[in-house]
Amino acid sequence: GEPGRLKDQRVLVTAGGTLERIDPVRYITNDSSGKMGYAIAEEAVRMGAAVTLVSGPSALPAPNGVEMVRVQSALDMREAVLSRLDTSDLVIKAAAVADYRPAVVAEQKIKKKSDSLTLELIKNPDILQEIGTLKKHQFVIGFAAETERLDEHALDKLNRKNCDLIVGNNVSQAGAGFSGDTNVVSIYDRNGLVEALPIQSKKDVARKLLELAADRMPTIAGN
Ligand code: PMT
Repeated sequence: GEPGRLKDQRVLVTAGGTLERIDPVRYITNDSSGKMGYAIAEEAVRMGAAVTLVSGPSALPAPNGVEMVRVQSALDMREAVLSRLDTSDLVIKAAAVADYRPAVVAEQKIKKKSDSLTLELIKNPDILQEIGTLKKHQFVIGFAAETERLDEHALDKLNRKNCDLIVGNNVSQAGAGFSGDTNVVSIYDRNGLVEALPIQSKKDVARKLLELAADRMPTIAGN
């Protein structure tokens, strides 16, 4: 996007999957590489913003000029994000947060015993939904990773979680979603579809998303 377009704006981005521990050597996670969120953080820096990137475990290096906060679990990510909400103008939640975590984290390595083992999971807090409840001046962008009925599910999430924009990601489509360098997304606001983007690099998706946000943020003069 246009350099300087996000000057003086404080941008908080989440990226990557969360890691939910089972015991000292085992955990549950998902396929998020962090690429989408890191691309957004990088592009926001280029557009002049002060950027904090809250990232689950990812192999990617910290982008230049970003304040990096590394976390593991959904509970860690919640704390890192909510403690920075007041001092953010734009919040973008590209992270794939685990919906559930093991009900108990075993202190010792779980021993192999019977032929089956049942792991009890309990629900994690929904960070985006909490942001939607707490937000004041903040412009909030959520993501929705779906494998069917993208429009319906994305709009439902936008409304339930009180986001300003939602990025619908049909993760079953070729070239879209987890791990790759490209994505295919549709962006929605309260009134419905804003833009359906053809396949392109995550960097280009990031730029278009930030331009849409900059056109709408209440903290940017002229909007
Ligand atoms: O990291 P990459 O490999 O580049 O992959 C990118 C991506 C596919 C992870 C990304 O484009 C994406 O779609 N991210 C959202 C993934 C997701 O978890 O979607 P969801 O539909 O389950 O969640 C909806 C929204 O609520 C998301 O903004 C999510 O961050 C948020 N959420 C979900 C659960 C929870 N407990 N707390 C949350 O804040």
